[in-house]
Amino acid sequence: MARNFRIAPSILSANFARLGEEVDNVLRAGADIVHFDVMDNHYVPNLTIGPLVCEALKKHGVTAPIDVHLMVKPVDRIIPDFAKAGATYITFHPEASEHIDRTIALIRECGCKPGLVFNPATPLDVLEYTLDKLDMVLLMSVNPGFGGQKFIPYVLDKARKVRQMIDARGLDVSLEIDGGVGPANIREVAMAGVDTFVAGSAVFGAARDSDPNRYDTVIAALRAELAKA
Ligand code: DX5
Ligand code: ZN
Repeated sequence: MARNFRIAPSILSANFARLGEEVDNVLRAGADIVHFDVMDNHYVPNLTIGPLVCEALKKHGVTAPIDVHLMVKPVDRIIPDFAKAGATYITFHPEASEHIDRTIALIRECGCKPGLVFNPATPLDVLEYTLDKLDMVLLMSVNPGFGGQKFIPYVLDKARKVRQMIDARGLDVSLEIDGGVGPANIREVAMAGVDTFVAGSAVFGAARDSDPNRYDTVIAALRAELAKA
């Protein structure tokens, strides 16, 4: 399958005390995108990072795309702040916005690439009206809120459905998956039509020591599996 595969480490599992260095190291190891999980202790039962941290990464010198995954409700208020902070993609959960079309337009107006995120059991019906306005569809393969959970296999069927919709309409929309992805299953996920792979604990949990090349092995293992897809 000749897709352009992209690996998006989720910084949720990074060492936050040395975040800039962690991001430099995964990018140097060959990651393509920085996945940035924003949680509000309201839409999801956890609390993480906001625009300040995104801006800090940009100021640190990160030039790779930043993929901001908003797990917040409401969403609109915070979108311009993330755009100013240097977000590339901004994705949100449709159930967290009262006006999905308006939120997509707002992300676009702010100069960012919009995406919709679907929880494992959330139906895809809104894609009928929105797919051509999106740059990304993100399928959750765990329930959002925490890293290190187990991959939910029925999401593979969902991925096949979305891939079929994208291809049938001839659109250039990325299909990303998030949760429980690692070297043991990334190939199967790719074969279901996914092109962008979030991996948090599989990457940052792989090694944590003073070796600046500590992520090379795991990123290479992910790439080797993708090469077989
Ligand atoms: C969960 C987050 C994920 C999470 C993935 O709500 O959206 O990005 O960090 O972590 P792993 O790869 O450990 O399942
Ligand atoms: Zn995420």
